[in-house]
Amino acid sequence: MNKITSISNLQKNFVEELFLKTTEIKNNWPNIKKIGQGKTLCLLFWEPSTRTKLSFEHAGKMLGFNVLDFAPANSSIKKGESFEDTIKTLLALKVDGFIIRHPEDKISKKIAEILPEEVFYINAGDGNHAHPTQAMLDVFTMHEKYNDLQSLRVTIIGDVNHSRVVPSQIQLLNMFSCEDINFLGPKSLISDKFKPAFNSASESCLSERDILFILRVQKERFKNNDTINEDKFIKDFQVNENFIQRTGFKGYLMHPGPMNLGAEITESTASAKNSLILEQVENGLYSRAALLSLIA
Ligand code: CP
Repeated sequence: MNKITSISNLQKNFVEELFLKTTEIKNNWPNIKKIGQGKTLCLLFWEPSTRTKLSFEHAGKMLGFNVLDFAPANSSIKKGESFEDTIKTLLALKVDGFIIRHPEDKISKKIAEILPEEVFYINAGDGNHAHPTQAMLDVFTMHEKYNDLQSLRVTIIGDVNHSRVVPSQIQLLNMFSCEDINFLGPKSLISDKFKPAFNSASESCLSERDILFILRVQKERFKNNDTINEDKFIKDFQVNENFIQRTGFKGYLMHPGPMNLGAEITESTASAKNSLILEQVENGLYSRAALLSLIA
């Protein structure tokens, strides 16, 4: 297994090994095995990224990889070179593995097919299809707090429809027999395939939930008919101190980032004692180093 396109292609024992490796790397950081020495990995990010790109870059360098940062905006793509020719060119430059973010849904499947067998590949987010490494770091973080994932009660709030994190996260939680996942937010942002869904945050509705996983409105992935009344979204679903009090939420707050402070979450809530948001970022570094260690 050296191509990670989505969680649905992974076996549970692989993820268990990944979590053990993540813990080992976390406990020993920065003294980690230089499994990347003599190898080159290339970051190709067709969309902006802070967390995913820099954690892979940092992890890759700490593992001893030579890391190439391919910036599409400054490349020969601007002169008309195709995606496929770009990959072929980089392979000719002796790249051993790729980490790719791209706006096209499911392009990860095509990429995995065109790459030679020995070349490793990690999907760093493709359209709103999948973001497997975000799910890995998120579920690892949940597992650190609640050892028993099976009995975890998770509420995902906000723009579920345009999230590539959500499908990957549901698949990974289901893999560990966590089935109690519900959704909260405006009807226009939660399609019928996400069930059970609630379109208003009633008194004490979150008092029994362990994780509140907050999503920003991902306008960059809105299609023609998609709309949102942002003022109403903030009034009804912003996770702020009043919201926490009214809904009775006592568990941990999570957010994959980037946050839009003052929209889906307030600054004080994001930095509250029960917020795991920066732990998620930190665990992203360790889990991505672990994944590279297992597949590169
Ligand atoms: N969560 C996430 O993918 O963040 P970045 O876009 O900053 O990588």
